[in-house]
Amino acid sequence: MTDFNETDWAKADFSNEFAENADDFVLERRRLLQIMKSFYGHFLAGKMNRVLDLGCGDGVLTAELLGTDGSIDATLVDGSDEMLKKAKERLKAYGRARFVKTGFQELLKKDPLDENFDFIVSSLAVHHLDRSEKGRLFRYIHDHLSVGGCFMNIDVVLSPTARLEEWYLLLWKEWIAERQETLKTGKGFADITERHRNKDNRPDTLEFQLDSLRSAGFKDVDCFYKYGVFSVFGGRKG
Ligand SMILES: C[S@@+](CC[C@H](N)C(=O)[O-])C[C@H]1O[C@@H](n2cnc3c(N)ncnc32)[C@H](O)[C@@H]1O
Repeated sequence: MTDFNETDWAKADFSNEFAENADDFVLERRRLLQIMKSFYGHFLAGKMNRVLDLGCGDGVLTAELLGTDGSIDATLVDGSDEMLKKAKERLKAYGRARFVKTGFQELLKKDPLDENFDFIVSSLAVHHLDRSEKGRLFRYIHDHLSVGGCFMNIDVVLSPTARLEEWYLLLWKEWIAERQETLKTGKGFADITERHRNKDNRPDTLEFQLDSLRSAGFKDVDCFYKYGVFSVFGGRKG
């Protein structure tokens, strides 16, 4: 079993670096967020507004959702004090946000969340779990959704073959190189694919994760978007 406290995410410097630079190196981050908002607006908004953001980081996902629907009742979970501090700061204008500090491993063991949600969303966090933990987390998510509620995961996935992985990583580098002139931070990130091989990254294939979602009981399971190793996928509790 993995342990959040053993990962680089438990170090403030590491999480700060991500939060400050993510717009520059997360491939098409703005589009990924747009897809999430469209999904929420189309399937859930107006009827089902209890949102759980797993591995919330600095709260970027929830802030985007709140920008489109201020009635959202949000719960944000992360293992990092530093990230939760940033998320609280970002969301201080919204009264109805609850922050829970816990690693996913603890969440699976002790389940401090005593309620159900309508939209469970996660971005770039689930790939830190190993294969069996991902399966358990998907079942946990299904258990914590109301009927008709949905799960969306924005995440990096493992390619089905090494040849494809090589090209997908090249696509990522090309995307960064094309935007060199406009990068927010001025950092190059030419080494992004080496960084991606970080010991805390444990991506699994999309196929495995879609199958795990179906096994957990999800309906309408699909990959909603994919660009190289970045994908958006999920399903609905029927
Ligand atoms: C790459 S960041 C993504 C943050 C945010 N969701 C975003 O898209 O900008 C990964 C986040 O997941 C959290 N995280 C990583 N492993 C975790 C675990 N095992 N349990 C809880 N949180 C975890 C980190 O602290 C970090 O905030």
